[in-house]
Amino acid sequence: MNANPSEPAGVPAPVASHIVRVSLGERSYEIQIQAGLLADLGSRLLRIAKGRRLLVVTDRTIGPLFGPVLARSLQAAGFDGSLAELPPGEGAKSLDVAKFLYDRCFDAQLDRSSCLVALGGGVMGDLTGFVAATYMRGIDFVQVPTTLLSMVDASVGGKVAVDHPRAKNAIGAFHQPRAVFIDPLVLAKLPDRELKAGLAEVIKYGVLDDRTFFEFVESNVGKLLQRDAAALSSAIEKSCAIKARIVGEDEREREGGPRALLNLGHTFAHAIETCTNYQGYLHGEAVAIGMAMACELSVARKLLSRGDADRVRQLIELAGLPVKLKAGDPPADDLHAATFRDKKARGGKLRFVLATSIGTTKVFDDVPEEAARKIWDLPRD
Ligand SMILES: NC(=O)c1ccc[n+]([C@@H]2O[C@H](COP(=O)([O-])OP(=O)(O)OC[C@H]3O[C@@H](n4cnc5c(N)ncnc54)[C@H](O)[C@@H]3O)[C@@H](O)[C@H]2O)c1
Ligand SMILES: [Zn+2]
Repeated sequence: MNANPSEPAGVPAPVASHIVRVSLGERSYEIQIQAGLLADLGSRLLRIAKGRRLLVVTDRTIGPLFGPVLARSLQAAGFDGSLAELPPGEGAKSLDVAKFLYDRCFDAQLDRSSCLVALGGGVMGDLTGFVAATYMRGIDFVQVPTTLLSMVDASVGGKVAVDHPRAKNAIGAFHQPRAVFIDPLVLAKLPDRELKAGLAEVIKYGVLDDRTFFEFVESNVGKLLQRDAAALSSAIEKSCAIKARIVGEDEREREGGPRALLNLGHTFAHAIETCTNYQGYLHGEAVAIGMAMACELSVARKLLSRGDADRVRQLIELAGLPVKLKAGDPPADDLHAATFRDKKARGGKLRFVLATSIGTTKVFDDVPEEAARKIWDLPRD
């Protein structure tokens, strides 16, 4: 029986839409999560767009997969849209590619009432946001994230950047999107390894803020890996809600503010990524190892119980993610030096986000160097 007589038989009932609000005064926005949302993006954009001109920025992997359905919905809503398709990969987060996009903005005659649409993973989101922050001193943009990592992390919070040859994300701004539109169905096409990398950040939210959510991920990790739509939607919604709340309290990561807590596992992860030249591990994989290491450091500092640390490690492993370095990875001394370089650049102190239980974390500035150094000597695979 079709409950809605206006709909032809056989059309599945729409899946409930979930909305998470990021509250930032006049820069507030919604994160809309709904299966199938992509086909309806045009009408959703109509509610927020100032003008009718827009440029969709995507990469050559994602463009062919989702570009046509997006283009149809934008056209049906009366938008005058252009498309820029870039090579996939971190290499697109460069000033050269940003310059290419400024040219495309002029070609498409974008003005201050126009909007950029970032369709893709965190690379497209960061790059498009950076161009939106700077073109004509800042125009609107919306995020349409297509990786799990960008749905739960990169697309929310307004950090936009390109890389400099000397440092990742070094040239950037805070520029909040006008909205984030998440269609979990696009994850059907995401490679397994990328899905798991996104799960690392999902697990991170449980560890840093919410034991009940951690337990939800524990109970549903199998479904999440099988891309069960309901489990994924719940995990995305909860992760976004945690990030949205923290960003709402601390938009610009002020000294001592809660946004730093989102870096759980990231001090170790950044050192791993730097020393392996961003080749050996995906960001989420490095975060997985970094979180396991941060838990070991917490146990060594008598902040966290052995039982909780083991539970975190087991969940990371269940998600198909690494918890240890590989035998052939760079030597411990190099990794430790990289941790230090990262910190020195920010004023000398080693700073770690450490869990005091599953669901509570704090920033610690007083971790002795020897304690941090020992973590790099943990057994390898
Ligand atoms: N701004 C922030 O707050 C923030 C937070 C975390 C990460 N980041 C940034 O995000 C970037 C990493 O983002 P990412 O992990 O999303 O990687 P990504 O953007 O490089 O995407 C990974 C790969 O998956 C492909 N892909 C994307 N969606 C797909 C889909 N649905 N189906 C099939 N293939 C798909 C892409 O073409 C790409 O090759 C880094 O540059 C990182 O610095 C930013
Ligand atoms: Zn991260």
